[in-house]
Amino acid sequence: MTVNPISLLQLPPDLDRDRLPQHVAVIMDGNGRWAKQKGKPRIMGHQKGVDTLKDLLRCCRDWGVPALTAYAFSTENWGRPLEEVDFLMTLFERVLRRELKEMMAENVVIRFVGNLAALPPSLQQEIARSMADTQNNSGIQFTVATNYGGRQEIVQACKAIASKVEQGYLRVEDINENLFENHLYTQGLVNPDLVIRTSGEMRVSNFLLWQIAYAEIYVTETLWPDFNRSEFHKALINYQQRDRRFGKVKNK
Ligand code: FPP
Repeated sequence: MTVNPISLLQLPPDLDRDRLPQHVAVIMDGNGRWAKQKGKPRIMGHQKGVDTLKDLLRCCRDWGVPALTAYAFSTENWGRPLEEVDFLMTLFERVLRRELKEMMAENVVIRFVGNLAALPPSLQQEIARSMADTQNNSGIQFTVATNYGGRQEIVQACKAIASKVEQGYLRVEDINENLFENHLYTQGLVNPDLVIRTSGEMRVSNFLLWQIAYAEIYVTETLWPDFNRSEFHKALINYQQRDRRFGKVKNK
């Protein structure tokens, strides 16, 4: 008997279109290990990681997942060797410059979240340009967490709210979850339904701490550069088998 290979260019038939996550967030881990396994320098892993991310973005678009967020650089990543940090900053800038035209053509809305003011000025410029140019697009929402830390994001939201209270624009009684969420970097974006972490580590690593309160977490041993459509398919199958109760009892 021959089994028809599933075309991964469209939504695979074993996935339920009505139960797709509306926002997928990815912790792209394992680039260094991937390169090491191949006897290459770590930076080659990051380079291949960009191709993986590009294809995942296209795959989300092709399959009907409306938002993708990627953890590109954490506030802790400054502790890596200087050459690697420099390489990553240059890589982000180069990729943005190179891909902007295509992202416009594909109608992507790109947004960067994190403490962007601490990034190299030339990168900040590319970021500002890509966000301004794509802001009125109507396609997939692509968010890149760069110099991002969940705790830092929460602290800056607290400061912004406290300062509004101090200046009399807000009263303490006005503070609620909704207002708080509107002071996070991700304001206006639905919270992730699914977080995928590659390369086996069972941690959230300071990623979207507030936003993933009820997200399903999927960890795979696959290293990020090898996370292709077929791996994403597996993650979505697994997600659709979960019973999401949001703290309530199961619907009968
Ligand atoms: C983690 O692997 C990966 C990173 C810190 C960088 C990820 C960045 C990209 C894939 C580029 C994205 C580019 C744009 C423009 C959004 P690791 O180095 O921690 O791997 P290891 O755990 O095996 O050492």
